[in-house]
Amino acid sequence: MLAIIGGSGLSGLPGLDVTRREAVHTPYGAPSGPLTLGNFFGRSVMFLARHGDGHRIAPHEVNYRANLWAMRERKATTIVSVASVGGISSDLKPGTIVVPNQIIDYTWGRKSTYFEGDAPVTHVDFTEPYTPELRAQLLAAAADCGETVRARAVYATTQGPRLETAAEVDRLERDGADVVGMTGMPEAVLARELGLAYAAIAIVVNFAAGRGDSRDGIKVERIDDVLHHSMTRVLHIIQTLVASS
Ligand code: HPA
Repeated sequence: MLAIIGGSGLSGLPGLDVTRREAVHTPYGAPSGPLTLGNFFGRSVMFLARHGDGHRIAPHEVNYRANLWAMRERKATTIVSVASVGGISSDLKPGTIVVPNQIIDYTWGRKSTYFEGDAPVTHVDFTEPYTPELRAQLLAAAADCGETVRARAVYATTQGPRLETAAEVDRLERDGADVVGMTGMPEAVLARELGLAYAAIAIVVNFAAGRGDSRDGIKVERIDDVLHHSMTRVLHIIQTLVASS
């Protein structure tokens, strides 16, 4: 079953004909909220709001292990993650939709593996952090609905919850990052450890610190507007993906 993880600006899935809500207990604690299951454009789909009801869970406090465990437990096999990010490269203006293909992880102190304690030491391959077939499906769905998206991007995941300094963004750029967000990891690697297909679709909601119109500071009050406008386009892409598969 396809599962959608909604980030900022997506606390429910419009168009989901809800059949049940399930609070799942996991060995890793509680997920961000109950899983919402239902029919979405002819298919069974599951939804989870990453930041919980009312957006109360900060990126570094999300129980990523419980979220993915719960979804797999309830038969999710494929995860599409929706996220918002800052644009580092000059072409990544607010409103741009990105399907990242790589990750650099700058987070720390997050529970980022299931393989600890008594579990056997296991090193998963993470060369391609996003499932190529699922990325291809997202890109095909975007093309089908006439949306231009950035088809490749390196997603730097920072710890947050504060935004970056301008010098930190310069460093991220030197490292090769195109966009910066706070929730890309450890979500992607936990999905890999559980054998779930995983890809992300991200909305650039602001220029990263020190770039473009964020040169003198990020105007956080503008983020909601961009998010609102672009989310409709992201939802259209996801509907097309679901309807065509
Ligand atoms: N930095 C980190 N995370 C973000 C940003 C940003 O500029 N915008 C949205 N999420």
